[in-house]
Amino acid sequence: MSPLGNIVILTGAGISAESGLQTFRAADGLWEGHRVEDVATPEAFARDAALVHQFYDARRARLGEVEPNAAHLALARLDAEWRGKLLIVTQNVDDLHERAGAKRLLHMHGELKRGWCLACGERFAWKGPMSPHAVRPELVDGLSVSSQEEVQSFDKLRTNGGLGDLGRSELRTNGSNQCPSCQAEGQVRPDIVWFGEMPYEMEAIEAALFHADLFVSIGTSGAVYPAAGFVQTANYRGARTLEINLEPSQGSIFFDERRYGRASEEVPKWVAELLG
Ligand code: OAD
Repeated sequence: MSPLGNIVILTGAGISAESGLQTFRAADGLWEGHRVEDVATPEAFARDAALVHQFYDARRARLGEVEPNAAHLALARLDAEWRGKLLIVTQNVDDLHERAGAKRLLHMHGELKRGWCLACGERFAWKGPMSPHAVRPELVDGLSVSSQEEVQSFDKLRTNGGLGDLGRSELRTNGSNQCPSCQAEGQVRPDIVWFGEMPYEMEAIEAALFHADLFVSIGTSGAVYPAAGFVQTANYRGARTLEINLEPSQGSIFFDERRYGRASEEVPKWVAELLG
């Protein structure tokens, strides 16, 4: 490939696994104990906003306990040094790519550290919990005591359990879920793309795939569309395709080259080869 080739890199939960964030589909995965329908759909939010908020509050708090690993750092180095076009498209809602220094980055499934106001439509940075409700102990399992305290310090309303019955009307009634733009109460949701919703930046991603010389997929199971179909778009447009993963993904047969191992080892090795 020419030194000025266009590169598109897709990352998934596997790149953050060695930082200590659970993947989605592993045996000990994030969704274990929580059906995806209960925490990652607009219907779940309409039915039980408290549960959804607390689930994401716990995930957001966890970010303070983890650091980018060698794979994130290697991609940030590639971003800084690659003189051709480059785009990192992540399905991850964590902030480890940007904390490693990546700049040419899109979060197609949204970000834990952003909120979206359902009243005025604004999206904005969000720090700390979004939930005005008490925390269910099982949602903060696995967090350190300090993260649990961080989550619970925002527990201004309830300590009596029974959270399953709390709905949006109650969210509206207190002051810890206020839109910084229109000041509406209880209308801010996580700016995360839930199942059944359209991923972000699809136009920009498709344009990049159309002009890619190399498409690399790192640490993703290839189970969730549209991201799982990027390799086929890239193939169709004549790009070379590479998969880096712990094991063959569901779409592994579509890749020209496959490298299996830990992202923290395989990604730095690949970047070093590319940069020469
Ligand atoms: P998955 O949990 O489905 O897949 C993670 C992949 O990473 C698996 O193929 C693992 O083999 C691999 N893996 C695990 N540890 C690794 C390591 N140390 N090095 C390299 N690879 C490793 O996560 P995603 O494919 O990212 O969507 O999931 C895609 C989407 O499904 C998520 O963004 C999320 C989820 O539902 C939404 O929330 C909309």
